[in-house]
Amino acid sequence: MIKVDFTNVMVDSIGQRGLKSSDYELINYTLAFRKISSRSYAELGFLDLWKQDLSEIKRLGKYASGFDNMIILGIGGSALGPRAIMEALKPFHNFKAKPKVFIYDNVDPLTLSEILDLVDLKNTIINVITKSGSTAETMASFMILWQSLKDKGLDITKHVIATTDTQKGDLRKIVNDYKLMSLEVPSNVGGRFSVLCAVGLLLAETIGIDSTELLKGVSDIDAICLNDNISTNPALRFALTCYLLHTIKGINMTILFPYSDQLRRFSEWFCQLWAESLGKEGRGLTPYPSVGTTDQHSQLQLWMEGPADKLVVFIAIDDYGRDITIPSIECKFNDFANQSYLSGHKLSNLIKVEQEASEIALTKNSRPNITIKIPKIDAYHFGQLFSFFELCTAYTGILLNINPFDQPGVEEGKNLTYGMMGKKGYDAKRQEFEEYRKMKRLII
Ligand code: PA5
Repeated sequence: MIKVDFTNVMVDSIGQRGLKSSDYELINYTLAFRKISSRSYAELGFLDLWKQDLSEIKRLGKYASGFDNMIILGIGGSALGPRAIMEALKPFHNFKAKPKVFIYDNVDPLTLSEILDLVDLKNTIINVITKSGSTAETMASFMILWQSLKDKGLDITKHVIATTDTQKGDLRKIVNDYKLMSLEVPSNVGGRFSVLCAVGLLLAETIGIDSTELLKGVSDIDAICLNDNISTNPALRFALTCYLLHTIKGINMTILFPYSDQLRRFSEWFCQLWAESLGKEGRGLTPYPSVGTTDQHSQLQLWMEGPADKLVVFIAIDDYGRDITIPSIECKFNDFANQSYLSGHKLSNLIKVEQEASEIALTKNSRPNITIKIPKIDAYHFGQLFSFFELCTAYTGILLNINPFDQPGVEEGKNLTYGMMGKKGYDAKRQEFEEYRKMKRLII
């Protein structure tokens, strides 16, 4: 089970910048728990994903695994989760096995052109993922792939799996009209909370990750994170800690700092979840994706001595799965003698010591930090990490008194794009866009 260490946010560890036990009593956090347990929001369907029927996902995963390439088209929650799963649980997959996976989550023409140069569509399965079924970026790339398949005389129904809302949206209509293979995003599961449904699990099954194990982890962590006891519920305590540090101590940034290359993409997944869920009505906490030890030599100076507005959340790994011992090198250059202290240690020892050293250094400098300890990065514990952060986000949003499940702030940009790209009904937005272009004068 993952464990969370809150020692270094308390006054005893970091002095005046820390929290007192009595601070935790100032807030009616039971209410936050009740809003979740009584299902006060329509989007809480992610809590039920641990018990979903996996048979169709496994069947299509097996089908997709027979191809040489898989192209995933999606953006935001429809891409960050699958990518985090692949990089954490099958690092270097594309160098070692098939299908090679390409996750195209942008509309950068160069990227898609390069992907199309690399793959033979005859041996390629396309997984188009969009919960709404209408996101411009995803639909644009899907239209390009659709036409490319047709140009090659390939049967769309054999090369496309669509993952979308059960009933709503244009993509679901296309699925029905063309009898495409498809999987469902339950209507009560929001995009950035959807990694543990077909959105992430089809890729998992395709590349040999057992989604049953992922969900077992989810069900086990949920069993301890769905109660209102902050002494035993780490997600509620995490949320309350973030809230208190923010409101009492001016902490506005949350840095996710896993000591593992495998969790780089997980940090990106977390950043979307945290930013899009919490940043509204003038409130929110800015996430920053990081990785240790790399960022000790890039960011740590700022976190140590820059503005005291950050909470650093370490993820410490107990068992890295593989290891290498640093050799003792016979060398005539004296400089090597200075490095001999490293000889005989394992790399896992070095990375763990560095993680703890950063923890100690931040603590000595009164910078709040939390450490999440994960026994190993396998499907079971990775499922726990996903669900833990989803629950932390939901609790934190409720404590901040905002709706963590909507994203009204991204609509305006979308509408302006629709206007400029000629979508019906968006003429006023097109005009606004054109006026803006004319008004831009301070270009030097
Ligand atoms: O959390 C969300 O709902 C969004 O970030 C979506 O994941 C993103 O906009 C992509 O949406 P869709 O899956 O509908 O294409």
